[in-house]
Amino acid sequence: MSLAPPTPLKARLSPKAFQLAVRRHHTPLHHRRALVSSAASPATEPEPPSLEQAQPSRKKPLTPEQKKFLDAALRVNQAGELAATLIYTAQSPPLAKSHPHLRPLMKHMYDQEAGHFKYFNEILAKHRIRPTVMYPLWHVAATGLGWATAVMGREAAMACTEAVETEIGGHYNGQVRVLLRWVEDMEAKGETVGEELMGLVREIRKIRDEELEHLDHAVENDAKMAQPYEILTGVIRAGCRGAIWVSEKV
Ligand SMILES: [Fe+2]
Ligand SMILES: [Fe+2]
Repeated sequence: MSLAPPTPLKARLSPKAFQLAVRRHHTPLHHRRALVSSAASPATEPEPPSLEQAQPSRKKPLTPEQKKFLDAALRVNQAGELAATLIYTAQSPPLAKSHPHLRPLMKHMYDQEAGHFKYFNEILAKHRIRPTVMYPLWHVAATGLGWATAVMGREAAMACTEAVETEIGGHYNGQVRVLLRWVEDMEAKGETVGEELMGLVREIRKIRDEELEHLDHAVENDAKMAQPYEILTGVIRAGCRGAIWVSEKV
């Protein structure tokens, strides 16, 4: 066994290779992580800066305007889904009592709303988007709306769902259109569309379809027989538009 001291690194390498080795050793940790994540650049090989420049990421972060749009849209979505769960929570007991055959339908719609609410809660928490400051007011208003329409009767309760889902369905449609425009723009520029954005589009589309399914259930269950139908749905729809407008701002 040889006890000779190891040959210094500088003596074993050419001057250029030694510089590269030292540069690698002193690369900041966050920089090295970026290199490790590049499939074209094994972390065990020297990484001249030019190699990194030749493999740029095509994934572009959202612009400040896009971020602002998304913050407002997701804040509204969360508030709307909170309201939906509270409307059905208030409507279900009196409706199920007077019309037991509606119990499974009310539970089905409530369960879907609870899923929507959970999804937007998670998105807001993940991206640190603040909920609307109107949250407590919407809480009271939605519970009151659900209770009042259920007391008015089955048709009024269904007219409430029809009115709310008409507005919220249109609201989700608008968001899907904007997000798909972003995707098209990115693809046209050869940029990578992140899975997170595509996942959001898929989820909002799915939620939009479920809201429109609720609308169909409401119409099938005599929403249009509510008295006074025009005034009731007109007031609820105007209230929804106002709540959306305010929640986008604050
Ligand atoms: Fe919903
Ligand atoms: Fe709904």
